[in-house]
Amino acid sequence: MITFKSQEDFNNMDKAGTIVATIHSELQEASTPGTSLIKLDELAKDIVIKSGSTSSFLGYRGYPAYICASPNDVIVHGIPGNYILEEGDILSIDVGVSVNGYHADAALTYGIGEITDENQKLIKLTKDALYAGIKLVKDGQKLGTIGNKIEKIGKKGSYGVVKEYVGHGIGLEMHEDPQVPNYGKKNQGFTLKKGMAICIEPMFNMGSEQTKVDDDEWTVRTFDGSNSAHWEHTIGIMDDEVRIFTEK
Ligand code: MF3
Ligand code: CO
Repeated sequence: MITFKSQEDFNNMDKAGTIVATIHSELQEASTPGTSLIKLDELAKDIVIKSGSTSSFLGYRGYPAYICASPNDVIVHGIPGNYILEEGDILSIDVGVSVNGYHADAALTYGIGEITDENQKLIKLTKDALYAGIKLVKDGQKLGTIGNKIEKIGKKGSYGVVKEYVGHGIGLEMHEDPQVPNYGKKNQGFTLKKGMAICIEPMFNMGSEQTKVDDDEWTVRTFDGSNSAHWEHTIGIMDDEVRIFTEK
């Protein structure tokens, strides 16, 4: 269901976004070689509890953790486990929390210690695609135009643009209508309106766009084992501005 937000609703999303941004910066700082993904989840749990917010992920369709931690060939929805980070890894972290029932959700990818130029370029282009998409967000904009732009940037880098997992509306639920695909045709698809909030979340693979899911039924990997990057922000179309709630 799409919820139209008042400025007060957006204030709650802004607060949730600030907590999400804080978790991301603390986790990034803690992501050194030798750190386990479980440790990062524990750190996120501490911050969520201290902030008085609620995890959007824990218990969502039975999801068992506060964050998704997706190293290297994991595209999205990696359950934080015993994996120990190594120099040269890339790691995507995805976090969502709610404040007074309003959710914010964001993901980013970074390197652990020194990473290759190829990995750096993958991370940068995925981030560039997210921001190019955000720049197009406004009242009256078609989601096909946004998806088209993101897909073009991925193709420019010869990356596999993941199509099986998409962005989404967000508000009183973490996942609301509409779906926000990272592909599309200009001037087609859903029309954005004032009072809406969406998550744009491109996922680019170094190799093909094909995906596969582990036996845990969550962890999504590239089919060919190539590395993957994921960037996401929660964006609101407010009365007089478009705000990125999860960027501080
Ligand atoms: N942040 C993810 C998304 O944007 C949601 C993670 S799924 C969960 O769709 F189960 F971990 F919450
Ligand atoms: Co999301």
